Amino acid sequence: MPRILVLSSNELLELLDPRSLVEEVSEAFKKYSRGETVTPPRTVFHVEGNWWGIMQSYVPGMGVGVKVVNIIPSNRERGLPTIQALVSLYDPVTGSPLAIMEGGVLTALRTAAASALSVKLLAPEEEGPVAIIGTGYQARFQLRFITEYYKPSQVRIYDISREAMEKYKEYVEKELGLDVYMASDHRDCIRGAKIIVEASTTKDPVIYGDALEPPAHVISIGAHMPDARALDDEAIKKMDLIVVDSRKAVMEEAGDIIIPVKKGLIRLEEIKELGEIAENPPSERPALTLFKSVGLAIQDACAAHLAYKKALERNMGKWVEI
Ligand SMILES: NC(=O)c1ccc[n+]([C@@H]2O[C@H](COP(=O)([O-])OP(=O)(O)OC[C@H]3O[C@@H](n4cnc5c(N)ncnc54)[C@H](O)[C@@H]3O)[C@@H](O)[C@H]2O)c1
Repeated sequence: MPRILVLSSNELLELLDPRSLVEEVSEAFKKYSRGETVTPPRTVFHVEGNWWGIMQSYVPGMGVGVKVVNIIPSNRERGLPTIQALVSLYDPVTGSPLAIMEGGVLTALRTAAASALSVKLLAPEEEGPVAIIGTGYQARFQLRFITEYYKPSQVRIYDISREAMEKYKEYVEKELGLDVYMASDHRDCIRGAKIIVEASTTKDPVIYGDALEPPAHVISIGAHMPDARALDDEAIKKMDLIVVDSRKAVMEEAGDIIIPVKKGLIRLEEIKELGEIAENPPSERPALTLFKSVGLAIQDACAAHLAYKKALERNMGKWVEI
């Protein structure tokens, strides 16, 4: 009788430690940029007015991963997560299903791993103030992973929701033991910061070029619709190096890249992919850098594979006959 391994969100948190996930994600991005993965565009559809997506990828050596994900903003009032997902993993040769796992935590972990990889490769220094704009669910994972490669002397935070800011402050102080400054607005938040993370649901710019103080590395994981932007024109124009997860995906989904390219402010040919930078890191770190991501199915497949591998080694998870 065939059987699959089921992994819960708590088990994923235990299995996927930041350093090994960053290594795995780095290998997957390199394979993606070398054209070795099979990654069809994600299918997007709407159900009852809400966004649903199906993301699939084959990463050689890591398996075939398929994620079904939805974003249901009204779940906030129901006390349910706004992003829910399931990831399934398959053997690429036999096609047999191997595992199924909770996808919300997996998404947050793999997204944070990509951001941390960009810090490892591009951070201007090893220690300094870190700014977080948008202090919701992803922001916790982002900061936790970044601290593996960067020592925040202070964490400067800003969110339009005072409640979100206060909860995040408590988390950072208690769980990470770091000093937190609650900023009065977006500009105040990024003042003097050397690592700036945008993890918000904004549609309009929240990172202004006139407030950036190089050297600095900016990460933007939000604003992934063609008409949404997290950075204004000046911020984009000031960048010495722009790195994205996928040139193809950002040109379909990220207003932060689509709009400045259309306006002629930046050239797509000058934008690098994270996989290319991981393969050939710059000999000298540019003063002002941006990592913009929209999220790729290769990240889900590689994170699912690592979780499955580690769960087998540690005898974790629940086997279910199918
Ligand atoms: N790039 C990726 O791979 C990837 C993966 C997962 C999620 N995301 C994106 O990351 C973003 C954050 O997701 P989340 O799950 O943490 O959402 P969340 O709802 O938990 O948190 C978002 C926070 O942003 C705040 N916010 C909204 N507008 C703001 C503004 N103008 N200024 C400051 N704060 C503002 C909200 O108040 C909220 O606290 C979303 O856009 C999500 O789609 C990206």
